[in-house]
Amino acid sequence: MLESFIEQVVPQIDEINRSFLNSLNLAPRLKEAMLYSYNAGGKRIRPVLLLAVIAGFNSDIKRGFRTACSLELIHTSSLIHDDLPAMDNDDYRRGLPTNHKVYGEATAILAGDSLLVDSYRLITTDELLTLEERVRLASELSACAGANGMIGGQELDIENENSDIDLDTLVTINMHKNGKLIEFALISGAIIAKQNEEVIYTMRKIGEHIGIAFQIKDDILDVEGDKRILGKNTQSDEKNKKTTYVKLLGLEGAKQACQEHYEAALSLLKSLNMNTALVETIFRLIIDRNK
Ligand code: IPE
Ligand code: IPE
Ligand code: MG
Ligand code: MG
Ligand code: MG
Repeated sequence: MLESFIEQVVPQIDEINRSFLNSLNLAPRLKEAMLYSYNAGGKRIRPVLLLAVIAGFNSDIKRGFRTACSLELIHTSSLIHDDLPAMDNDDYRRGLPTNHKVYGEATAILAGDSLLVDSYRLITTDELLTLEERVRLASELSACAGANGMIGGQELDIENENSDIDLDTLVTINMHKNGKLIEFALISGAIIAKQNEEVIYTMRKIGEHIGIAFQIKDDILDVEGDKRILGKNTQSDEKNKKTTYVKLLGLEGAKQACQEHYEAALSLLKSLNMNTALVETIFRLIIDRNK
């Protein structure tokens, strides 16, 4: 079921994003750099999750595509910046050399900036959404991506390199650097499906748990994943002296924590009045990827 959903929606997501990026013509090399990282691949898990939430509420997924696309562009921008020499200094991403390795640091920084800034227009000009919905979605996305969201989490992650942090601090970092964009996928799906604030609040809580689970899994894969399947180098966290779940709790402890957050997310999901099958499968995919 998930396979056919993915086969149905991912080509449409890519088509919208490619044609949008192709329209950003002023500086051709900048456009090429943005398309390079976008086209390098990626699982597109966030936009697929957003659309699966809308489908689960039996609402029209057509109204979610441009918001989903915008989310994937912001995620791509975060990866380009995350790999920069000043951050994680990684040279391999989505199966290809990182953006700065190909285009140089200056263009990579600007490609990330542009993917972040231009992305909002996909939402604000979406004629399938009411003006009120567009304002709400753009505000939620900006809050999830910004200094109180993903970017703030990235800052805390970098500041805490080389220092011993406790589990609470690590949870805060994970919940933000990765959790917030996942949270946006869930809440925006509910907003587009015209759900009430109570449902949106529950989605936020689910997002926190599944976002943490996602980052714990990412940390596990950094230790025991397969570079060829992951499309990025492993052992990056060790190299950068990051405190991860694996470091604090060991591999088995990290796996158990991941499972606990997954189960917490699942039980909240099941409390909602929706068809949860597709979203559940995506959660499972997040936990099981690259086994
Ligand atoms: C990787 O995200 C970076 C993190 C936020 C931990 P994904 O695993 O979703 O990366 P892609 O999009 O598939 O490349
Ligand atoms: C990065 O976390 C999260 C974001 C890009 C926001 P990581 O640094 O662990 O991601 P990878 O392992 O490089 O994909
Ligand atoms: Mg990082
Ligand atoms: Mg990294
Ligand atoms: Mg990682």
